[in-house]
Amino acid sequence: MRTPIIAGNWKMNTTYDEAMDLVEELVDGLEAREESDNVDVVLCPPFLWLFSAAEYLEDTGIQLGAQDCYPVDRGAFTGAISAAMLADQCSYVIVGHSERRTLFGETDDLVAKKAAAALRHGLRPIVCVGEGLRERDAGETDATVRRQVEAAFAPVEGGQLAECVVAYEPVWAIGSGRAADGAEAGRVGALIRETLAARFGAAAAGQVRIQYGGSVTGANIAEFIGQPEIDGALVGGASLNAAEFIRICAIAARHGAGE
Ligand code: PGA
Repeated sequence: MRTPIIAGNWKMNTTYDEAMDLVEELVDGLEAREESDNVDVVLCPPFLWLFSAAEYLEDTGIQLGAQDCYPVDRGAFTGAISAAMLADQCSYVIVGHSERRTLFGETDDLVAKKAAAALRHGLRPIVCVGEGLRERDAGETDATVRRQVEAAFAPVEGGQLAECVVAYEPVWAIGSGRAADGAEAGRVGALIRETLAARFGAAAAGQVRIQYGGSVTGANIAEFIGQPEIDGALVGGASLNAAEFIRICAIAARHGAGE
């Protein structure tokens, strides 16, 4: 069975003090639960807080992720942070989040390069895919998701799939309070796995963990984690609230324990 994975995407939120308070609360709350063995928990704070967060997380089971990376290792790329630079601090990195695609103009090709750079440096990419409202209304959800998955995994090899996570995040569900229907998310999760299986074979594709993302809360996580092809969640807003995030992790852990 695939271990459930809950990742908190803090986006561009928190002051330094708020971030450290949140990390501390999460460490206390999550470490107090033995069931946290049955779920992988990843915190993705802003870049600037990674070093300090890493100190708090040392000797805890909680892992650290970055929200983005640049695919070239070093050079004249003002303001960018490479996967190579992140490799010592993080275990995971989010690539291709819809906010990066929409607000920063990231293409499928750039997302693929980021995923490849992450893997090259031993980071596990959390590859985000998902249709916008226009595509959904036009009945293009499946074609959009399939295209994004095929493109992002173009430079990936089958042997690397166990290190990869795909987050299915319908853009209209992000930050809207309007989560997707569990069964629909499960259906698209299956489509993602089929798309990977067509290229890499079912065994390799079966190792990828697939998350749902978009207005996940403690009240609806069970609906998603209960889907056979969904292995966890990428959580935005609710990851900034320690009690809520701990609740989400606890429900995923119980699922991971086979309850
Ligand atoms: P949300 O964000 O949980 O606030 O909808 C999810 C995401 O963007 O990863």
